[in-house]
Amino acid sequence: MRIPFGLQGWSRVLRLWTRHPLLGLGQLSAHDYCSPGLGDLPGDIERYFPSVHQVMSFNPRVPHISREDKRQPGVGFVTWDESTVLMNVAKRFSHGLGLEIGCWMGWSTVCLALSDIHLDVIDPGLGSGMQADTVRYALQAAGVAERVNLVKGLSPEDVHVLGQKGHRWTFCFIDGDHAGDAPRRDISAVLNYCEPDCAIMCHDTINENVYEAMSNLAQCGWQVTFLQTAVGLGIAWRGKIDPPQHIADPAVNWRAVGLYPDNCYDP
Ligand SMILES: C[S@@+](CC[C@H](N)C(=O)[O-])C[C@H]1O[C@@H](n2cnc3c(N)ncnc32)[C@H](O)[C@@H]1O
Repeated sequence: MRIPFGLQGWSRVLRLWTRHPLLGLGQLSAHDYCSPGLGDLPGDIERYFPSVHQVMSFNPRVPHISREDKRQPGVGFVTWDESTVLMNVAKRFSHGLGLEIGCWMGWSTVCLALSDIHLDVIDPGLGSGMQADTVRYALQAAGVAERVNLVKGLSPEDVHVLGQKGHRWTFCFIDGDHAGDAPRRDISAVLNYCEPDCAIMCHDTINENVYEAMSNLAQCGWQVTFLQTAVGLGIAWRGKIDPPQHIADPAVNWRAVGLYPDNCYDP
């Protein structure tokens, strides 16, 4: 009797298995997570994004489901865990106007706007075309379009344009250009226009440029903390309002993940 596959056949099956969006080794337990104590996203939020699909975590050590637009693979949305933190922090700081830099297909934008905050959003893809249409559709579907001012533009330049028009922000979420000095320039631009009670959040603090740019805020009198999420979220805040607490997913061995230096784990 012949064995159907030789060694090469089995190694191909194994390779395909490990690359499968959700069945990959180590992703068998992939799940969405919401910290206790935080309000959750609407369970049907994916309905607002007809082209979303679930893929393997962008951090193989954190088995949280990632999402991307299937027409533009490779650029992930903030995870469920990160989305709930964004929405809940924005809610605390919704006494004024919010700013988002880098919205991609609008997933993070919808999550922020669901907090009731009014938002300026800067992204170069917000003119016309597939990205802009996707963002507008999602905001309409979620019933939050009226709260969001979409600006086709680039940070830090368009941060200054809005700031010089008098916009002042109580909440800023930065998820745009992570290369080189860009995160530091973005933060230093928004600092000119922040209200006294304000929070600044950055995504991808696993990226050293983002991590260092956020850490520097501590020297400017801001409180800074880094959350254990799939690719890291940083929160800096000042004034009379504190952000809600995030409890990192107990199903993940965060010490093995090693996102940050030892002294930067969740409080
Ligand atoms: C990773 S995606 C953002 C994902 C989005 N925050 C989410 O979770 O749904 C990064 C976005 O930043 C935008 N971007 C890159 N450089 C930028 C800049 N200098 N100013 C504003 N947006 C920028 C890109 O066009 C892209 O849409």
